Amino acid sequence: MEFPYLFSPIKINTMALKNRIVMTAMHLGYTPEGEVTDRLIDFYALRAKGGVGLIIVGGCPIDELGGMASMICINDDRFIPGLKLLTDAVKKNDAKIAAQLYQAGRYTHSAAIGGRKPFSSSAVRSKFTGETPRALELDEIPGVQDKFAEAAVRAQEAGFDAVEILGSAGYLISQFLSPITNLREDKYGGSMENRMRFGLEVVEKVRKAVGPNFPILMRLAGNDFMEGGNTNKESRRFASEAEKAGIDLFNVTGGWHETRIPQLTMNVPRQAYVYLAQGIKSAVSVPVLASNRINDPYIGEAVLRNGQADLVTIARGLLADPDFPKKAKNGKSDLIYHCTACNQGCFDSIFRLQPATCLVNPRAGKEGELKSVLTAEPKKILVIGGGPAGMKAAVTAAERGHTVTLLEKGDELGGQLLLNRHTPGKEEMFTTATDLINNLKALDVKILLNTEADIPFIKEMSPDAVVVAAGANPILPDIPGIDGKNVVQAWDVLAGHVGVGEKVVVIGGNAVGLETALYLANQGTLSPDILHFLMTSRAESFETLTELLNKGSKEVTVVEMTKKVGKDIGLTTRWTVMGELRRLGVNIMTDTKAVSIKEDGVEVVKADGPDFLHANSIIIAAGSKPENSLVSEIESLVPESYTVGDAKKPRNALDAIKEGFLAGLKI
Ligand SMILES: Cc1cc2nc3c(=O)[nH]c(=O)nc-3n(C[C@H](O)[C@H](O)[C@H](O)COP(=O)(O)O)c2cc1C
Repeated sequence: MEFPYLFSPIKINTMALKNRIVMTAMHLGYTPEGEVTDRLIDFYALRAKGGVGLIIVGGCPIDELGGMASMICINDDRFIPGLKLLTDAVKKNDAKIAAQLYQAGRYTHSAAIGGRKPFSSSAVRSKFTGETPRALELDEIPGVQDKFAEAAVRAQEAGFDAVEILGSAGYLISQFLSPITNLREDKYGGSMENRMRFGLEVVEKVRKAVGPNFPILMRLAGNDFMEGGNTNKESRRFASEAEKAGIDLFNVTGGWHETRIPQLTMNVPRQAYVYLAQGIKSAVSVPVLASNRINDPYIGEAVLRNGQADLVTIARGLLADPDFPKKAKNGKSDLIYHCTACNQGCFDSIFRLQPATCLVNPRAGKEGELKSVLTAEPKKILVIGGGPAGMKAAVTAAERGHTVTLLEKGDELGGQLLLNRHTPGKEEMFTTATDLINNLKALDVKILLNTEADIPFIKEMSPDAVVVAAGANPILPDIPGIDGKNVVQAWDVLAGHVGVGEKVVVIGGNAVGLETALYLANQGTLSPDILHFLMTSRAESFETLTELLNKGSKEVTVVEMTKKVGKDIGLTTRWTVMGELRRLGVNIMTDTKAVSIKEDGVEVVKADGPDFLHANSIIIAAGSKPENSLVSEIESLVPESYTVGDAKKPRNALDAIKEGFLAGLKI
């Protein structure tokens, strides 16, 4: 067995888990009315079938004042029958299931609770909602705590194996715990002992309500990452007290929604926050679950083997691949589709109040609707283009029993995913390419590299169906001087095909332009291993190291003619990219149009008039146009054809992979 730690059983109070893999709570938006839906059941039943040990669902609002739209409600007995269908479906597939008890306090939007004012420990404005809550009156507090206990009893009645009290991320319990949001002067405020009281009483009430044998988990921030807030030290103390009050497992994450330290984005290194779980583990004797960016079984195994935690969270990783545990257990971990933390399908969708899906798994959230069925009529299929859309079409069609040939004109599969290989914080996108390639190989798809599709080839092959996924070509804008020797395309820079000078102007401030700027601005800064070496050997001062981390060897300016850069980057990621650009000193000029390129720079027009930007190299990131020159001829040649991804219309990888998948399902 390759992963003995990951697949060893563990007992949480009376709950026996078959392995150490936990899918922690994710608000997915599959329950528009709060009632459990078939969509939710299909989603979780498939994850249970895929071999996960424990699924935690939610957040489940415990009352009517602390939730938001489309959550799985547990605040009334009428939800119990639906919840029972969910727990039955998961348990039938040999996994355990817990409900997360959720009360968001000042993170509740008043619009989500009928215009009423949300409550909190104190009336401290929330940057997350832009609203100021009201402080709970002393005599209201027991009633709020009772709601946790009542919800826990409902969870028991609905067949859940455990409940999880949400004590992290800046929600109600953390609000009481933190000196930033708890300014009370009664027995629930002031000293740490008083601030802990609200949460500890919740635990005691829940324990009393469910009895001694029912597992109670608690989600906790190992560090709030809020200036003036609780840190590793306070969280350890609280965990230790919460264990005494009745907690059977701590699920450790970090940060609040308001923190400026990224928690879930691609630039968070894999297993970055395991140290927080390790910290809590040192303070308690019950099992501890490590969370965030553990997206690979090898990492999970190492975390457990190293004794840093007792269980690991694979949350988005199971959105990306429901069979993650099964593949790892059966020696097929190379076929896992890894979560890249792009957040495009999940977190970004939820922020737009849309149901969650997944860039690498377009079936996520549509399990009942989009079934991959073996074909009764195997066909000979040609896929033109080895980018994400083409690879996904090829994999999907081959899985259904078709014979697939994949043509790629370059010498490597991956398309635009390859461009992210060396971009700081974006490297994980390359994993998507590797995963698709591994699956293509396992399915015996015939891959022809360095082969351009042309009509004689197609006639000779005579396929039953063709998928055109030839991608896009970068646009050369009509600017005088664009054909100069000092002008290069962003794609060529990112691919490492060309080098650039010390002073650089990037024309175009969408995702590709900003990623190119990041890639260049990062050149000449300290690499992680050199930083580690210099820091541990105390070779340089903290100030010098910080400077060496933030200042590279290139001076980079981005010129964007509209008012905003990075408009095509998802809401939950854009702020991290902007932060990195700022840190690396990239000069961003919006409302600025490049009008002419000269040998020594670019003439621009800004809102306040013309300017000249000196530069050795000018990089063009002005978008792309579809490569679909063969489409109409192909349509007349073959019985069935599809054009997908950028070849249809340049967009992001989420659309490309979805379209490739749908074509593969349809053929
Ligand atoms: C769309 C989405 C919704 C989430 N909702 C919740 C939630 O309601 N409660 C919670 O404790 N964590 C929530 N999380 C955090 C996850 O449980 C998990 O900690 C996080 O995704 C990091 O783990 P991962 O890298 O394995 O995905 C959510 C995450 C995502 C992406």
